[in-house]
Amino acid sequence: MLVASNRGPVSYEVIEDGSLLAKRGGGGLVSGLSAIGPETNAVWVCAALGGGDREAVRRAGGGLLPAEETGGQRVRMLDIDATVFSDAYNGIANSVLWFVHHMLYQTPLEPVFDAEFRRQWASYEAYNRAFAEALAEEAADGAAVLIQDYHLALAPRMLRRLRPDLRIGHFSHTPWAPPDYFRLLPDDIAAELLTGILGADRAAFLTQRWADAFTDCCHAVLGPGIPSGTRIGVHGLGADADFLRERAHRPDVDERMAALREEIGEGRRTIVRVDRTELSKNIVRGLLAYRQLLEDHPEWRERVVHLAFAYPSRQDLAVYREYTAEVERVAETINSVFGTEGWTPVVLHVKDDFARSLAAYRLADVALVNPIRDGMNLVAKEVPVVSDEGCALVLSREAGAYEELGEDAIVVNPYDIGGTARALHEALSLAGGERAERSKRLAAAATALPPAQWFLDQLGALER
Ligand code: G6P
Repeated sequence: MLVASNRGPVSYEVIEDGSLLAKRGGGGLVSGLSAIGPETNAVWVCAALGGGDREAVRRAGGGLLPAEETGGQRVRMLDIDATVFSDAYNGIANSVLWFVHHMLYQTPLEPVFDAEFRRQWASYEAYNRAFAEALAEEAADGAAVLIQDYHLALAPRMLRRLRPDLRIGHFSHTPWAPPDYFRLLPDDIAAELLTGILGADRAAFLTQRWADAFTDCCHAVLGPGIPSGTRIGVHGLGADADFLRERAHRPDVDERMAALREEIGEGRRTIVRVDRTELSKNIVRGLLAYRQLLEDHPEWRERVVHLAFAYPSRQDLAVYREYTAEVERVAETINSVFGTEGWTPVVLHVKDDFARSLAAYRLADVALVNPIRDGMNLVAKEVPVVSDEGCALVLSREAGAYEELGEDAIVVNPYDIGGTARALHEALSLAGGERAERSKRLAAAATALPPAQWFLDQLGALER
């Protein structure tokens, strides 16, 4: 069996003494796929993302990376030409496809389909071809290949041509755009993205909503008779309760909790958010809603702290760097307008620290998850599982997790800052017993399909 994704389970940094430091990759895709145990004997094909990764590939002689660095997985990293990689990853995947599926374009951030776009598109094709060729080379007769996400929309069809014997699955970890939005892509590109995925035997999504949008796009772009026997599936990825509960009670997390308690101060409620600093996560509107809460409900001043963890993401892209700066600016403004001698209203942390995220989860009275659009959003599922006293969840109706958690969450329209402020007030005001009950039900729904099962279900469905 083979798995293919842009980001793999590990990424490397060259440290001062010239040795390589291996770190676990971030994001929902890696969290989900990390459940692939060594017993499956799968080979995971991914791209080298930076200088450290390229060096690791060189040291491994282009073959599998050392298992002790990959959490026991068999990983083959592809050292794709740096320009081709950057065009495909930064240019097409993250500046165009991510923006389309999350419907993030708004003036002055508009799509530009010019000659530069066409040049980057050629790189996106080359990047997909590199994966298809590596997979064709690695796969045994009749093997199952699970190709992941919008970076690799063309690879299923390319691989199908090279190796008709394989069983090919494609899985989208993002939302899928509705046809009216998807069709802002040039017609030939829209068609290629769809037929690329339709090269798989099975195309799967995190929710029925995204699966339906994909089918609607196929009809709108390719015409009513989709020229393919591709089956469509839905697998809603859940949180890994056993892993999280064990990991959240290790000493490093206890230490971080003590430090956070210092920052929060005695007897205050906490509103927690943990995200990659990502436009789709809607962090700025979340902060503005918190500000509105403090304005409309002065009774919460000095009595609540917002722990906002926003970890750097895709910093090669100017729009992400600007967004990161804006998050910092808005948090600072709130602190300077409302802060007092012993109270910092927003505690913003921007350095990625998994143990500290878990510590915040444990301390959470309220979790704020308000993305503009999100394939699933695992944070919404993880906080109720880990929080010590049970938490209330303020959740965007545009997150995939809404389909499973909507009933016990306090649901918001992510664009509505006033509505989000009211939801925060309601969440903070929930009586302890009611909050604990809801949190229990949220945790049960959140862990219904743990990652290992999610993965095996996909594989099983592909085999049927
Ligand atoms: C989302 C995508 C993943 C991606 C992750 C982190 O969850 O669906 O494919 O790996 O974001 O983004 P990055 O660009 O850092 O890999």
